[in-house]
Parts: sequence; structure tokens; C-alpha cells
Amino acid sequence: MSDVPRSIVIDDIATLVTNDPSRGRGAVGEVRDAALVVEDGRVAWSGPRAQAPAADARIDAAGRCVIPGFVDSHSHIVFAGDRSREFAARMSGQPYSAGGIRTTVAATREASDADLLAGARRLLREARAQGTTTLEVKSGYGLTVADEERCLAVAARVTDEVTFLGAHVVAPEYADDPQGYVDLVTGPMLEACAPHARWIDVFCERGAFDEDASRRVLTAGTERGLLPRVHGNQLGPGPGVRLAVELGAASVDHCTHLEPADVDALAQAAARPEPTVATLLPGVDFSTRQPYPDARALIDAGALVALASDCNPGSCFTSSLAFCVAVAVRDTGMTPDEAVWAATAGGARALRRTDVGHLAPGARADLVLLDAPNHLYLAYRPGVPQVAAVWKDGELVSGRP
Ligand code: NIG
Ligand code: FE
Repeated sequence: MSDVPRSIVIDDIATLVTNDPSRGRGAVGEVRDAALVVEDGRVAWSGPRAQAPAADARIDAAGRCVIPGFVDSHSHIVFAGDRSREFAARMSGQPYSAGGIRTTVAATREASDADLLAGARRLLREARAQGTTTLEVKSGYGLTVADEERCLAVAARVTDEVTFLGAHVVAPEYADDPQGYVDLVTGPMLEACAPHARWIDVFCERGAFDEDASRRVLTAGTERGLLPRVHGNQLGPGPGVRLAVELGAASVDHCTHLEPADVDALAQAAARPEPTVATLLPGVDFSTRQPYPDARALIDAGALVALASDCNPGSCFTSSLAFCVAVAVRDTGMTPDEAVWAATAGGARALRRTDVGHLAPGARADLVLLDAPNHLYLAYRPGVPQVAAVWKDGELVSGRP
């Protein structure tokens, strides 16, 4: 007989965010004086502690808050090099342009697979310690067939949510032949990369890929069995959002510069069985001194909104979803409830996942215990480390309760 307890109850939870409105108050399904039972890596039961079933072992939450692990649906953590000076120059008035991506491409091509993996693992650990239990990871700093493929192989060592972003910018070798680069991305590069990835992404923006090129990339990826997602409307208005909705992408990310027709398109797309989520990356707007997206307008129109970090060395080098929640509440018009939902359940929707982002029975036991009585503290105490413990699939992966 093994001594490992089969079921564990996390007891005396002051506030449990289930993201299941049938279990508690509001869209976040908030239960006060709650408990949660974990069995075989899944949530077996969640609800008021007075009704909790017996379990083999007990963890005392001691009047603190439990939320679902953050689902960060957008990151670029496979890279080498340092762009801190570019950031400093920006803060002294230099505008952000996607041109800096090429600096990271040069450093990434020089780096060994072992160094890229070590860097990605370090950032994954960092994200996990801050409560992220699901993390999407993109390629996009290789831009040759071999370098994109090895970046994806590294990504696949740290996550199941891998995205092929060969169409990040036109590779420097193709500066005079952007069509030729799209041929490469949709031909040999896609062939080599598709087996490593679940998703295909494109940076649909002036200075990167226009509407026609973006459509070609996403269509080729879809035909090869990948699911589409889009970087759009980051640096100015453009066709990214509407293209994402037209092609049934799971998400369109950034959404900083939206026109009324974009908001309408996202609202209509939210009503589909497989919606297109508007994923906001407010850390990027913070770190590039851009205006903030109007989350209030999106939510009021009926769009589905997620929050993600976009952790990357150029436009936003944070891995903290708590920071993104705080900025979203302060500057995009979201309520704290909406922002916490967007960083958990919203991220799950953006990755078309039903097993994460909530804590109803059957969900993965991906949990965060906060050193706080409720989830409002994430925005209320910005910059303060409040993650006490993190479980993934029922296993303690960071901190201690
Ligand atoms: O999501 N927008 C394009 N790509 C990244 C930025 C990458 C970089 O500057 O290195 C983004 O913001
Ligand atoms: Fe990005």
C-alpha cells in the first residue's frame, strides 16, 4: 500500500474563484468559505466548505484565496540576446517598431539548442512561480527553416501549446523579396514546422505581413492541420482583426487600435460555437508607451476578452499575469473580476481548452493559492508578490501552502 493520499481537500478558503457561474457569485463563480477536493490530478469537488466531502489529507488555506492557474495564451520565450537598451531608448522617446525583432533573430540563430532550452525553462519556472500553469509558446526568432524548426522543438519541450510563427517578420535574407519569404513560410518551412506545432500565427501589421500575405500563411497552415491565431492591430488600425474573424481564428492578439467595425466583428464572433477571442496584451502597451486597448468597449459589445503576457525580449518582457491584470484594471476599463476571468478562463478560451481556466469538478487541478483574502488583491496590490503556492495537475510545482 502506498502512503500517497488519493484525495486532498484544500480547506478554509476565504474566496474560491471557480469561473463557473453555476457554483457561485458572478461570472467568476466566487464561493466564500469554500473548500476544494483534488483527486488524480483533477478537481473532484469544489463548493462551500460546510458541504465538503471527506478526503484522505487536508491542506489549510487559512483564510486565503484560491484561483485557477493563469492561462497565458501568448508568449515568445524561445530566444537569445538582450534588448534592455532598446527599452531604455523607448522610455526616452524612441518609438517602438517591429524592427528590433531582427536583433533577437540574429542572437537566436547564434545560440545553441541547449542555451535556448535553458532560457525557455528559466522563463517557464519564473512564470509558474507567479501562478501561470498553462503557457503558449511561439517560434518567430529563427526565420530560416532550420532555426524555426529547432525553436519549435525547444518550445515543445516546455509546453503542449506550441505555435509556428515563421511569419513574424520577413527574414533579413528576403528583404528585397517578401513574396519569396511567404513562399518559404507556406512551403518548406511549414512542412518542417507543422509536426512540432498545434497553432499557426502571423504578425498582420504594416512593416510585417499585409492582409493577402497573412491570409496565405493562415490558409496554408490550416490546410496542414494547424489552427489559426493572429497578431493584429498592435501598432495601428488594420485588417488583422477582421481577417482573424473571417478565418475563424481562435484568437486575435493585441487589439490596441480597433475601429467600430472591428469591435462589431469580435462581438459577432463571440457568439459562434468556436469564437474568436480578443486577447489583450496590456504589458506591451505599457512597455511600448502605446495607448491602451478599450476592453470596456469590447466587453460591453459582447466580445470575449482574454489577457496574456506576450512575454518577449522586445515589446514586453514580463511573465507576470498578475501585473497584466493590474494594468488591465487600471488602464483598459476592466473590473477586477473581468480581468481575473480574462487571465484564466479567457486564456483557456483563446486556446480552445475546456480542461483549464476553471475549477469545476473534472477540471485539471491547476491552482494558485494567494497570500490574500480574495482575488481583488491582484489589482489592489500591484507589484506585490502574492502567489503562495501553485499546483499543476494536482502536484505542488512552486511555493508552499
Ligand atoms: O507580440 N508583434 C510582434 N511580435 C512581438 C514583439 C516581438 C519583438 O519586439 O521582439 C509582440 O509584441
Ligand atoms: Fe506576440
